[in-house]
Amino acid sequence: MSDLVIAYAQQQREKYLNDLIEYLAIPSVSAQPQHKQDVNRAAAWLCDHLRVIGMEARVMETGGHPVVYAEWLSAGANRPTVLVYGHYDVQPAEPLDLWRSDPFAAVIRDGVIYGRGSSDNKGQHMAHIKAVESFLAQKTPLPVNVKFLIEGEEEIGGPHLGAFIAANKQLLACDVIMISDSALLAPDQPSLLYALRGLLYFEVEARCAAHDLHSGSYGGNVQNPAMALAQILARLKDEHGHITVPAFYDAVRVLDSFERAEIARIPMSEQQIMAESGASQVFGEPGYNVAERMGARPTLEINGLWSGYTGEGAKTVLPATAHAKISCRLVPHQNPAEIYKSVVEYMQALTPPGVSLSFKVLQEGTRGTLIDRDAPQIQAAARAAQATYGKAPIYVLEGGSIPVVNDFQDVLGKPIALLGFGLSSDNIHAPDEHYPVRCYEKGIEASIRFLTEL
Ligand code: BES
Ligand code: MN
Repeated sequence: MSDLVIAYAQQQREKYLNDLIEYLAIPSVSAQPQHKQDVNRAAAWLCDHLRVIGMEARVMETGGHPVVYAEWLSAGANRPTVLVYGHYDVQPAEPLDLWRSDPFAAVIRDGVIYGRGSSDNKGQHMAHIKAVESFLAQKTPLPVNVKFLIEGEEEIGGPHLGAFIAANKQLLACDVIMISDSALLAPDQPSLLYALRGLLYFEVEARCAAHDLHSGSYGGNVQNPAMALAQILARLKDEHGHITVPAFYDAVRVLDSFERAEIARIPMSEQQIMAESGASQVFGEPGYNVAERMGARPTLEINGLWSGYTGEGAKTVLPATAHAKISCRLVPHQNPAEIYKSVVEYMQALTPPGVSLSFKVLQEGTRGTLIDRDAPQIQAAARAAQATYGKAPIYVLEGGSIPVVNDFQDVLGKPIALLGFGLSSDNIHAPDEHYPVRCYEKGIEASIRFLTEL
């Protein structure tokens, strides 16, 4: 059955590409208030699109950016139901001058679609929409019931979706959740994520004086908060990259032998990290390879750092305050609240007299997630991936975070198939984000096969 549907999808190649390009033209940047109308427009566009392909769809309020919900339940109550999750919001496109083409006027160059959201995540959930469209358009019976939940606050760690899911448990009831918001390991090597890192994000302010001071009159007589903060931050890790916060690693899980064998199969090298990042060498905790550091070890990173005068020219100022944004990627079993407490206490302990620190949590911690690899629904995804890409998927511990996975686990309690259609080289969250046309087409095929295998 899936062959006929795939053949139809291939005939529709141009149309399916054009639909994605139209969707990518809507700058649904969830973080920027000036794009609020565009966010709503993307939701409305998507809702219309889902209706046109034959689903019942609606835009639903959440208290923040709306979600788009759609369903097709005509396979009947004795057939399984898939809930496909995705996000229609995108990261800000800035810095704009580093894009080769307009981030919101997607173009295809050398078989690759360039545009913000092309890989993360419009292009990936559109693959599932096009799979469903391919069944419905030619009246091939869709073998399973399908629901879509496409949200608009993923890129801002949105506070509303968890409550929405809890309040709509019946509406979202399903047998499996499918999420394509990650990457293949290589164009012909699929992966199924079975762990995601969580995230804890906070900001710290170091203050020494009541207001900025003349650095000639006061320099040498009062603490400089930028220097003090730099010294505190520098002590959060040793020179090898090992985090020195007490108890930080206490709950980190030791991998079992299956996991170590899977990690050994991951085609990820130091060279690849260097090539993709432009870094002249890799740097990380001794004793772990790059795949382990990416998925199995927690991090502590400075995401922003500022103080004093950063404009053009010289200004002889002794700043009153210094700031840093810091985040930790947490692995399963680490408790975000406890980790936050340990980090804050340690930073306080490192703070010299004359300096005071204040903290603000920017994103309530999301804990890391572990997923049951053996569930039959996940095995259906594995078979679909193998048939599409020619290789059995590798089970991967992912470094990024997809916070909704925790909500799905807590509220719906069903297996979650995390089958990514992008590539790690797609520049997500960066200038020139892109998505190979081939990845889109293969994603559609994989989705058609998944719906059939299920
Ligand atoms: N698609 C990414 C998550 C991801 C990144 C999965 C790389 C696999 C590989 C997702 O849109 C994302 O960026 N999530 C944020 C979540 C955060 C804002 C809570 C992340 O990981 O930074
Ligand atoms: Mn994403």
